[in-house]
Amino acid sequence: MSQFTIKSPKHCGKQGVNIEKLYKKLFVAFSALFTTILSIILLIWLILRPSKPEFSLKEADIYQLNLSNSNLLNSSIQLTLLAKNPNQRIGIYYDEIQVYAAYKGQQITLYTRLPPFYQGHEDSNLLSASLMGTGLPVAPSFGYEVGRDQTVGRLVLNLKVNGRLRWKVGTWVSGRYRLNVNCVAVMALGPTIPTGPLSLKQGSQCSTSV
Ligand SMILES: *[C@@H]1O[C@H](CO)[C@@H](O)[C@H](O)[C@H]1NC(C)=O
Ligand SMILES: *[C@@H]1O[C@H](CO)[C@@H](O)[C@H](O)[C@H]1NC(C)=O
Repeated sequence: MSQFTIKSPKHCGKQGVNIEKLYKKLFVAFSALFTTILSIILLIWLILRPSKPEFSLKEADIYQLNLSNSNLLNSSIQLTLLAKNPNQRIGIYYDEIQVYAAYKGQQITLYTRLPPFYQGHEDSNLLSASLMGTGLPVAPSFGYEVGRDQTVGRLVLNLKVNGRLRWKVGTWVSGRYRLNVNCVAVMALGPTIPTGPLSLKQGSQCSTSV
């Protein structure tokens, strides 16, 4: 195009300018359209502004936390979480939800995968999971830490949820966002190991990030 105009400026100069003008107009029109669409999406997003889901720990029971001499751990923990969608106009698809337990930064159960589900506007769901570990290697300090917790009289565990969620606004569904939930479970642990499971004294709110 520009090569053509340079070669014969006298004959084709005018045409070149016209086409250039047309391109400029098209470019301006497309930019305007693009900006408008982006602003509308942003505006809708700002008006609706999804709040992250709220999780709370309702129940947690340790059935087994048994360490072998070679620092291999057998664990069995049951838990129940309440998940709440605080949004009035936005639904949430939970995909790939995984739950596990950690103690002093170490994972002490395998991941348990929960079935994916949809949560409507301002809906709540109870999620129960059974966490297990058999022969999981843990740091040598594990037994010492549990012993120390025992003298203090309480065991502190982290129950964690990792997953992905999608927002649903009307019929539109967003892309996937990472979901991380951390619940702290404080359990009374006396000097003698109780015969029944170790249970949560009190439910607690979990921290959530999306
Ligand atoms: C730990 O293992 C021992 C021996 O295998 C067993 O007797 C005990 O009941 C176990 N403790 C728990 C809390 O499961
Ligand atoms: C953990 O479980 C395995 C398989 O059931 C068993 O062989 C092992 O003795 C258990 N370890 C402890 C510390 O209870």
